Amino acid sequence: MNYDLIYDPDEDSYLIGEQLKKFHDLNVLDLGTGSGFLAEISIKNNCKVLAADINKKAVEYCNKKGIKAIYSNLFSNISEKFDLIVFNPPYLPLDENEQKDSRVITTAGKKGHEIIEKFLKQAKGHLNKKGKILILFSSLSGDIPYLFEKYRYKHKKLSEKKLFFESIYVYLIE
Ligand SMILES: C[S@@+](CC[C@H](N)C(=O)[O-])C[C@H]1O[C@@H](n2cnc3c(N)ncnc32)[C@H](O)[C@@H]1O
Repeated sequence: MNYDLIYDPDEDSYLIGEQLKKFHDLNVLDLGTGSGFLAEISIKNNCKVLAADINKKAVEYCNKKGIKAIYSNLFSNISEKFDLIVFNPPYLPLDENEQKDSRVITTAGKKGHEIIEKFLKQAKGHLNKKGKILILFSSLSGDIPYLFEKYRYKHKKLSEKKLFFESIYVYLIE
């Protein structure tokens, strides 16, 4: 499928971006990079950054801006390991009324956690020894801390924000 929409940074990008600003001089993967907003924060912080997205338009857009970006469905085209993986994923349950091409940005699956669960299964193989993950999700995503336990990640909530219909959370997991 061809996706035309590139996600404009929003409340979620800003909340996770505030935490990302605290990490310097690391080898970083920005998964689901969209406009490259998070990748650019890490580049400013002297990190070596690989950006990846399932949306080829976003990949093209980032490369044009000078961000090293590749097409990847989660880790499908990624073999390296990283010190930090930052992921502001699609984190909402399916809304049948939503247009198909914006679902790739918003929808994690029927229940709201499917992409996050797949990510958690795969991410372990892409972390360096002391590697960490910064991840965002919503009160509508389901019980994500339960998934952290299930896949044996230590986890710590770093920030949260109440929005109109939901709260969003940023966690550091390792
Ligand atoms: C909520 S947006 C976040 C964009 C950007 N990182 C930000 O914070 O502003 C989610 C991004 O994940 C991408 N995405 C969705 N499913 C993906 C997958 N399976 N693999 C890689 N990227 C994916 C979407 O194309 C979109 O760019």
